[in-house]
Amino acid sequence: MSNTTEKPRILTGDTPTGSLHLGHYVGSIENRVAMQDEYDCYFILANVHALSTRAHEPAEVSADCISIVKDYIAAGIDPQRSTVFVQSEVPAIAELTWYFAMLLGYGRLMKNPTIKDEIRVKNLGENYSFGFLLYPVGQIADILTFTPQFVPVGEDQVPHIEMTREIARRFNQLYCGVDPQTPDEDYVEAGGVFPIPQAKAGRIARLTGIDGTHKMSKSLGNAIMLSDSPKEVTKKCNKIFTGRGTMDDPPVLEGNTVIEYLRAFHPDQAQVDQMVGSYENSEIGDGVLKKEAGRVINELLEPMRERCAATSDDDVRDILRDGTKRANELAERTLWEAKQAMDYDFFGRGLSID
Ligand code: TRP
Repeated sequence: MSNTTEKPRILTGDTPTGSLHLGHYVGSIENRVAMQDEYDCYFILANVHALSTRAHEPAEVSADCISIVKDYIAAGIDPQRSTVFVQSEVPAIAELTWYFAMLLGYGRLMKNPTIKDEIRVKNLGENYSFGFLLYPVGQIADILTFTPQFVPVGEDQVPHIEMTREIARRFNQLYCGVDPQTPDEDYVEAGGVFPIPQAKAGRIARLTGIDGTHKMSKSLGNAIMLSDSPKEVTKKCNKIFTGRGTMDDPPVLEGNTVIEYLRAFHPDQAQVDQMVGSYENSEIGDGVLKKEAGRVINELLEPMRERCAATSDDDVRDILRDGTKRANELAERTLWEAKQAMDYDFFGRGLSID
């Protein structure tokens, strides 16, 4: 095994859609940064999946891969310890997608609530590509190729992890002779190629955008980006909708987005308790809370800005080349083991990508 670290492995990733915002940070990135010490981390840039809705702009997707890696580095992901790689350059994933697709019923796929939601939210109607339906199977392969114990993801991805677990059990039962009664944690011990991975949620599942209403999202224009300048952050925090119509209305505590941000980002929660108390008694107004939110968010982002400025596009390419090489070593080994289990290991194979 090239994984000589003996640490449990995690695999997670993103569909590259450009830069990251604070919602990504508290939902997942922060968690990944913290996990680097105790886990062998693999982070996939799902640039093939991105084509499921952006087949007309592959060059833009490639540019988005570079931006997202810069944000990873800025946020504290350490490419020495963690493996960051590009999906399209790991052919074993595409091969395993085929084999897994044969183990998944079409009806089962169409019951996946995330797929149904995406069709609705993205207004795809009947006009989605065949590849769009294939992407959850691809995601099963993204995960199982790296035989991780855990998959840190947001709540919306949990149905995909459920399907991944089902396919891992099925493969192991069908091709490795694992008894269906085997407890999930014992599948590898019982001779399976794939461990049954578990989802792991982030600290905050949903961060509201500065409109005070919708989930933070770049496309809705309500996001604070990790790459925003101090001025932009201050300006955006001043715009946060706090739930009250005019300053004569009583302060709203429930669902107040500035308070949500102070809870999410303030390092001293006792101080937040105090401020919220004063706010409730109308001793301080929205402006004070907004200013404090802007201050703590800027404090969080400052070291990220410095790291981002110190990372060039060439650095990112080097990081991806190294990471993808390491990813291919593990991926090829898993594919080989899977093919052996299936009795499809006709010839040996050597993969070289540079
Ligand atoms: N579908 C995920 C998203 O859009 C991204 C992703 C692709 C992923 N492959 C993965 C996440 C494997 C976790 C594991 O957020």
